[in-house]
Amino acid sequence: MQSRVALVTGGTGGIGTSIVQRLAQMGHKVATNYRDEAKGRAWQAQMKGLGIDVAIAQGDVSSPEQAEALIRDVERQLGPVDILVNNAGITRDSTFHRMSPQQWTDVIGTNLNSCFNVTRPVIEGMRERKWGRIVQISSINGQKGQYGQANYAAAKAGMHGFTISLAQENAKFGITVNTVSPGYIATDMVMAVPEEVRNKIVAQIPTGRLGNPEEIAYAVGFFIPDEAGWITGANLSANGGQYMGW
Ligand code: CAA
Ligand code: NAP
Repeated sequence: MQSRVALVTGGTGGIGTSIVQRLAQMGHKVATNYRDEAKGRAWQAQMKGLGIDVAIAQGDVSSPEQAEALIRDVERQLGPVDILVNNAGITRDSTFHRMSPQQWTDVIGTNLNSCFNVTRPVIEGMRERKWGRIVQISSINGQKGQYGQANYAAAKAGMHGFTISLAQENAKFGITVNTVSPGYIATDMVMAVPEEVRNKIVAQIPTGRLGNPEEIAYAVGFFIPDEAGWITGANLSANGGQYMGW
């Protein structure tokens, strides 16, 4: 397959790192964003040590201005973005009756508004070049809801609404738009859930374990090749069997 330019937002995180590695192994030139430069450079050096060159550019994806500047920086370093994985995300868990406006807006801003902010500056180029791959990293909790996550579940369900609308608008331009909905994966985000609560969640997973970031990266990689060009608007669950709604 032709080598393309890929941007993975939140590529320095648990799942993002595996997606970056997978896309690089598939032969693509990969970039990600950082917010803290020292952290970004240290992660880049770590990838270099594994034989993977990753371009990095500063940008908080909850800001339209910073997201646009991020895209332009990546274009300067690698060329136009053909593959976009909207992966950056946060949790601010709280039962709704205690949730603050800040907890709501932080999660909607980083997890959902980011999809507009980052995709808007790349979509016109993809349409002109008649090829593109856009993948949203949503969540099992956007599909089934979750106690303590009204903000997160709303954002994650919104991401798939975004996917299926963009998929329709851009199908004629060789652009596919899909969602991957991971279940509970062993990253910092899940390790931040109190251990007692986390153990109860793991007990509900038919595979009997948390997922690995590589298992999500595999699902993302599935949507990228030319052969996947007829698969658009899909929501691929990768959750160890915890939720099987369709
Ligand atoms: N279903 C029913 N009741 C529940 C419940 C659930 N899933 N979770 C908690 N409760 C109940 C508790 O039993 C407790 O009841 P009592 O008052 O009768 O004892 C009550 O709710 C309060 O529970 P806590 O003591 O835990 O309350 P808290 O305010 O300290 O914390 C919480 C609430 C923030 C929601 C906490 O329970 C929590 O962190 N839950 C995990 C939420 C979660 O799954 N987050 C996922 C993070 S990872 C991620 O988001 C990645 C992804 O996409 C999968
Ligand atoms: P993680 O390890 O916490 O990584 C999150 C990444 O997003 C980090 O690189 C972080 O960068 C970046 N990020 C956060 N806010 C940002 C912002 N405003 N602008 C730019 N980058 C930002 O989380 P993860 O577990 O890998 O999660 C990745 C994605 O998968 C998220 O969207 C999450 O909701 C989703 N997901 C995770 C799970 C799971 O079980 N782990 C399950 C389903 C879905 P900084 O270092 O700058 O913070």
